[in-house]
Amino acid sequence: MIDKITEARKEFDSLVSKVHDLKSLEELRLKFLSRKGIIQNFFEEFKKLSPDEKRNVGKILNELKTYTQSVFEELKERLEAQKKKSESFVDVTLPGRERQIGSKHLITQTLDEIKSIFKGLGFSVYEGPEVESDYNNFEALNFPEDHPARDMQDTFFINDKFLLRTHTSPVQIRLMSQKKPPIRAIMPGKVFRNEAISAKSYCLFHQVEGLYVDKDVTFAELKGTLVSFIKQYFGHDVKYRFRTSFFPFTEPSAEMDVWWQPKGKEGRWLEVLGCGMVDPNVLKNVGIDPEEYVGYAFGMGIERTAMRKYGIDDIRILFDSDLRFLNQF
Ligand code: PHE
Repeated sequence: MIDKITEARKEFDSLVSKVHDLKSLEELRLKFLSRKGIIQNFFEEFKKLSPDEKRNVGKILNELKTYTQSVFEELKERLEAQKKKSESFVDVTLPGRERQIGSKHLITQTLDEIKSIFKGLGFSVYEGPEVESDYNNFEALNFPEDHPARDMQDTFFINDKFLLRTHTSPVQIRLMSQKKPPIRAIMPGKVFRNEAISAKSYCLFHQVEGLYVDKDVTFAELKGTLVSFIKQYFGHDVKYRFRTSFFPFTEPSAEMDVWWQPKGKEGRWLEVLGCGMVDPNVLKNVGIDPEEYVGYAFGMGIERTAMRKYGIDDIRILFDSDLRFLNQF
């Protein structure tokens, strides 16, 4: 029996060297360590031996048992660790997860473009607050209290003295109160009006104000600057016109329209800006002598300008944040 045990140990060793995965390890376990395995069989035979023989055989049989068991446990641990490692394997050839990259909103893009054209014409950029005093928004711009011109620009009031600005023109007041002429600046920003919301108007929109004050500024320069801008922005074949108009803070005043031809629809004139020569009363209000200085000013609506350029026919879509729309720009 001792020979058989020695033989079994040799076989076990040679099989162990061939175990390379959990499946072949299990075969090894079944053959040697299971209830019907070789070692259990030895113990059955062992029972039948004489007490004398038992003493000799018992020792090597127990040795075989602990040896095979410990080799098995060790192998099992190693193979299981190996398997776990292979399961967490990183496949570097898999395609990456795509990340959405944000982009500038169409309005911001339009503002950037307008700013860059006016910078090229010698204008600097200046900004004012969205919550503005009644004085800067109306009073200093020659809208007396209770003047009917205020009705056109109803807004959201914070209290008696402060409101959400209805246009960017109050930034003219801020700039002229702070800086001595010559002043040549554009002033972009958000403005607010209490309007019935429709395809054409919204309670919030953007404007770019322009102001040039110096000793010899003329209406011809105002027209020349605006025509140059409109051609750079819309292209040289753009159709435009000036119409006389009224604003309390400019005299004379005009509006500029561009021809709008949406695809498949009838074309029409679209008002893009108001303009005029700065009213002498406004200059007086900011402490600039109207005998010495003259100025021109203009203010344009950004949404309309962008809508004209990109053929958008509903202003509300610009405030919806619908990515299907925004991703087109
Ligand atoms: N602030 C005027 C508006 O919002 C536009 C304008 C600006 C007109 C400057 C003349 C000069 O309607």
